[in-house]
Amino acid sequence: MEKKEMLYEGKAKRVYATDEPEVLLVDYKDDATAFNGLKKGTITGKGAINNRMTNYMMQLLEKEGVPTHFVEELSERETLVKKVSIVPLEVIIRNISAGSFAKRYGVEEGIVFDEPTIEFSYKNDELGDPLINSYHALALGLATKAEIETIKKMAFKVNEVMKVYFKKLNVDLVDFKLEFGRLSDGTIVLADEISPDTCRFWDSDTHEKLDKDRFRRDLGNVEDAYIEMMNRVFGGNND
Ligand code: TMP
Ligand code: ASP
Repeated sequence: MEKKEMLYEGKAKRVYATDEPEVLLVDYKDDATAFNGLKKGTITGKGAINNRMTNYMMQLLEKEGVPTHFVEELSERETLVKKVSIVPLEVIIRNISAGSFAKRYGVEEGIVFDEPTIEFSYKNDELGDPLINSYHALALGLATKAEIETIKKMAFKVNEVMKVYFKKLNVDLVDFKLEFGRLSDGTIVLADEISPDTCRFWDSDTHEKLDKDRFRRDLGNVEDAYIEMMNRVFGGNND
């Protein structure tokens, strides 16, 4: 498949057209941002790690019955995906209090919830991705009622699969952000990425942070955290 013109450059990825109209090529960068682009940096090797980890998770989820946009990994940083129109919602699932949840509700980080929570942000950089509920999403015409129901079900299913998967690697899946897209026939599929950029991963014993919070909070050893997660997922075998 031929890599054609760049269609879009995001904070962490570039998206290219291919000679197949329903297939796009995603190219992962080492660029990192936080706080809606206010903080900028580079995490060396991140693009390759996020590409491989995302593709691994998407294939695992497909096996478990979650449809995704994944088509084929082409190289260290490049992957073919199905073309979707992104539903402009950031779908966040939480198992343990952290980040904006802890801040907003004035609770400490690390409270293990009896049941996972779900929340939506309106994907809009100008507005700073404001928190909204599903009625707001409907009112704004971001998705239909049926699509929101599908997205909720799929997001909780992703959580069940990933929680069990990461626990075996001695990692607690604290929370994560998903994005969904519509194929040309309207089918909702999981899109975007699943990586230390978009998940909080804590070592189950030490509670050491193994994700992008090391960059967001200037905790140091940022690259090491990504490599550690890569090694846990791929067993130190990077082939
Ligand atoms: P939060 O606690 O800052 O709301 O983040 C919840 C989860 O969503 C966390 O795993 C990080 C992820 N996330 C993104 O992937 N992109 C974002 O822009 C933000 C704010 C969070
Ligand atoms: N991707 C986000 C941004 O730069 C930040 C984050 O992941 O915290 O806006």
